[in-house]
Amino acid sequence: MSERFPLAFSPLKLGAFTLKNRIAMAPLTRQASEDDGTPTDEMAAYYGRRARGGVAMVITEGTYTNDELGSVAYLNQPGCGTPGHVAGWKKSVGAVHDHGIPAILQLMHGGRVSDPRCLYEGEAPVSASATQSGGAVLYSDTDEEMHNRGLQPPWPKVTFPPAREATKADIRRIAEGFAEAAVRGVEAGFDGFEIHGANGYLYYQFIDPTQNLRTDEYGGSPENNVRAAIEACQLVRDAIGPDKLIILRLSQDGVDAFGGAWPDGVRYAAAVGKALANAPVDALHWSSFDWKDNRDPNSDVPMPKVIREASGKPMIVNGGVAEGADVEEVIASGAGDLVAVGRPLFAHPDWPHIIRSGEPFNWTPFDRKYVIKPPYDYTYGYPLDLKKTVWDPDISKRKTRQ
Ligand SMILES: Cc1cc2nc3c(=O)[nH]c(=O)nc-3n(C[C@H](O)[C@H](O)[C@H](O)COP(=O)(O)O)c2cc1C
Repeated sequence: MSERFPLAFSPLKLGAFTLKNRIAMAPLTRQASEDDGTPTDEMAAYYGRRARGGVAMVITEGTYTNDELGSVAYLNQPGCGTPGHVAGWKKSVGAVHDHGIPAILQLMHGGRVSDPRCLYEGEAPVSASATQSGGAVLYSDTDEEMHNRGLQPPWPKVTFPPAREATKADIRRIAEGFAEAAVRGVEAGFDGFEIHGANGYLYYQFIDPTQNLRTDEYGGSPENNVRAAIEACQLVRDAIGPDKLIILRLSQDGVDAFGGAWPDGVRYAAAVGKALANAPVDALHWSSFDWKDNRDPNSDVPMPKVIREASGKPMIVNGGVAEGADVEEVIASGAGDLVAVGRPLFAHPDWPHIIRSGEPFNWTPFDRKYVIKPPYDYTYGYPLDLKKTVWDPDISKRKTRQ
């Protein structure tokens, strides 16, 4: 019988690995760790279940590197900063490896959009420049869900404190933190690392020209804007050697800028891609909710295609891939080499097997119930505390140094 989606289910060589197909699990924050960032058994079960479902590679949720310089972004976010974190992650990695596929740890620093409750008393978040996020609206997906939670419009909104500009010593220390976390991640068994340069977090704050106002070598041009992220990738590479994967994730969207657009659109994307041509990474990863939506009125070429061509790097394409035909289109159009799938895997852990079988499946619209601890335990709701319509965190709960 001929293969239904021959491109989607063909193997791919990536670095030292051969992936069995072109479908990766996208990084998805769950806020399901212990309070101290230790990954739980529940997380191991969750990752193992999705590895069993037929993906070729799992990329974990965004994980903090260490508890320094405002790195921690979320309550109950996992870390990779302590021996306890390593022990916790070993279980998730084992659950993924049981299905013969690589596990990639996404490492991130929250920058100016870290939850203020994760900052120490008196500590300001760091960012590329001294800027302040306009805040993030905690969206929900259906009116019914809002009703079920007893929420009234307007949507709850997170406000973030003003950030200070990272010094060069901070930039160096943060990159070292990524490298140190990667070494611990190797100890936990991870096969590679994704450096988070997307979705509004610290390296995105450097790459986005509207947030990076620097005039030194870390700002002012596409080459300078990607420098901090490249340095982090380089330190990670130096620390873990050539055999593990390193991926850099990019986006126009941010958690505080859904629908964000780079000024200069695809021209900026091409310059970013060119600046990354010699970066010590095995692949780039385009993050979005619709991979074709480039938000450039002057071009209809999808951003991942632009960046893939300009960089010459393998590209993981994410955003709105919901059917087998979408995977074929990404690869056939030259936009990417593999896809990363998020929301479909919340709803259907077996999504790769399902599309391959050709059996019809009930499409479950994305619903927040897939992003929290079942059944409907909103105390771990994503991204933050959704019980109040005005998000007014109790700053007295900020952390104090021991
Ligand atoms: C609940 C939720 C949590 C997410 N957490 C992360 C994360 O930790 N790191 C990251 O890079 N992207 C994160 N994303 C973005 C997804 O990786 C992905 O870009 C997005 O869901 C669009 O892909 P999809 O259409 O396949 O779902 C998250 C998205 C959702 C819905």
